[in-house]
Amino acid sequence: MAGSISELPAVPIEGHQPMAVGSADHPMRQMTRRAAGLVPDAPWDDAARAEVAAYFDDLAPTWHTRTSPGREAVVADVLERGVPTDLAAADVCVELGSGIGAYTPLLAQRWRRVLAVELAFEMLQRAPAEPGHRVLADGALLPVADGSVDAVVLVNCFLFPLEVDRVLPPDGLLVWVNSSGTHTPIHLSSTDVVTALPGRWEGVASEAGEATWCVVRRSAA
Ligand SMILES: C[S@@+](CC[C@H](N)C(=O)[O-])C[C@H]1O[C@@H](n2cnc3c(N)ncnc32)[C@H](O)[C@@H]1O
Repeated sequence: MAGSISELPAVPIEGHQPMAVGSADHPMRQMTRRAAGLVPDAPWDDAARAEVAAYFDDLAPTWHTRTSPGREAVVADVLERGVPTDLAAADVCVELGSGIGAYTPLLAQRWRRVLAVELAFEMLQRAPAEPGHRVLADGALLPVADGSVDAVVLVNCFLFPLEVDRVLPPDGLLVWVNSSGTHTPIHLSSTDVVTALPGRWEGVASEAGEATWCVVRRSAA
């Protein structure tokens, strides 16, 4: 066991529908497990990076059709019930895989500075300049110093466990959201998330509408 997760009650979100049909054989599901180090002998490499960037460059022109009030309500629920209200460190948040910037405004209400990191140029160029600071980079190689960010937020984006471990200080938060729950192509269960991370982690998980999410930090024990 690499950590402990407490399940919070599920909350309904009116009108929230899964927008994806991901399953175990979806190419981005396989890439998700690969990025997380859950596939032996298949590391994230230059070919994987190029494949993923091309995949999301192609989807970028229509990505706005995947935004909805329901999906925003999911992220709002995570921030309300998952992120501790007494956050001592609410300075820098890295939003990895920020896409067209749909959730950056919500994150900017919670952290003073949001660094929105995106691999696909076609996604990045459709995101508004504000709020936040936007950068084209690979989440497997974040352009930030060790232990320098208070939270890494992944809304339907890959988990790179070693990089998350590097950039978060001991009490840093990892926020993991799958907007379409198990139907999300880039889906991991909360158990997979803490299994993939180095060391012991603890936190909370829940369901909001069709979504699944968890918020974890390193275990104090
Ligand atoms: C499924 S989309 C989610 C976009 C947005 N978070 C949302 O939920 O609408 C995944 C996003 O992560 C980006 N992405 C994939 N791999 C990445 C990486 N290694 N580093 C940074 N961004 C990445 C993709 O380009 C894409 O914009």
